[in-house]
Amino acid sequence: MIWIQYLAFLWALVITQIGFARSEIRFLKQHEGESVVLPCEIEQRDPAPWGVYLKRTWLNNKDVLFKYTKEDFTVGNSADKSRISVSGDPSFHSLNITISQLKANDTDRYYCEFVVENPSSADEKIPSKTEYFLLVGAGGHWCGCSSYSSLLYVLSSAVGVLLLLLLLTGCVLCKVRQSTPQSTPQCEVT
Ligand SMILES: *[C@@H]1O[C@H](CO)[C@@H](O)[C@H](O)[C@H]1NC(C)=O
Ligand SMILES: *[C@@H]1O[C@H](CO)[C@@H](O)[C@H](O)[C@H]1NC(C)=O
Repeated sequence: MIWIQYLAFLWALVITQIGFARSEIRFLKQHEGESVVLPCEIEQRDPAPWGVYLKRTWLNNKDVLFKYTKEDFTVGNSADKSRISVSGDPSFHSLNITISQLKANDTDRYYCEFVVENPSSADEKIPSKTEYFLLVGAGGHWCGCSSYSSLLYVLSSAVGVLLLLLLLTGCVLCKVRQSTPQSTPQCEVT
């Protein structure tokens, strides 16, 4: 089971790196029962955003909460209302969303989306600068060993495998080039 978690985490890493390079991704690892703060921020703009969503994607696609400027937030799942708190406001371009009493099934990718009025067309939706990958381990600890170092170990070996794949792809491409007469026989590995 632990390895499935590692694998899932790894996949998330790969997927997020490939598909969502536009924003910074921060990894957060918490235990069940703990809480986490997700800061949401966008650049100053005029007009200021009038609303913000906190969305989760990948494992569970849904809106966790929506906050209309100067009003209390609403949640997608009513059970979440008591364990989520929000400070700041979309019109300030910055908020902190705190989720407490974390459960293992809170593990997911999270990001904020600010809604900005656009007079000439539909409202614009702007994702915040940072995305979060939240991993919530069950039962206080989720690995009998020193989980952090083994996680690093898994991640670094994944990077190694990726590099190897890139190298192999490079070699195959070079071979293809070498076999065509007009190209240089030099194999360039950059
Ligand atoms: C969010 O938290 C950070 C760090 O605790 C703090 O500096 C910042 O002022 C907070 N922002 C809001 C909008 O509450
Ligand atoms: C997560 O698990 C809790 C029970 O531990 C359940 O009440 C809740 O609905 C689950 N949430 C999701 C998104 O599946």
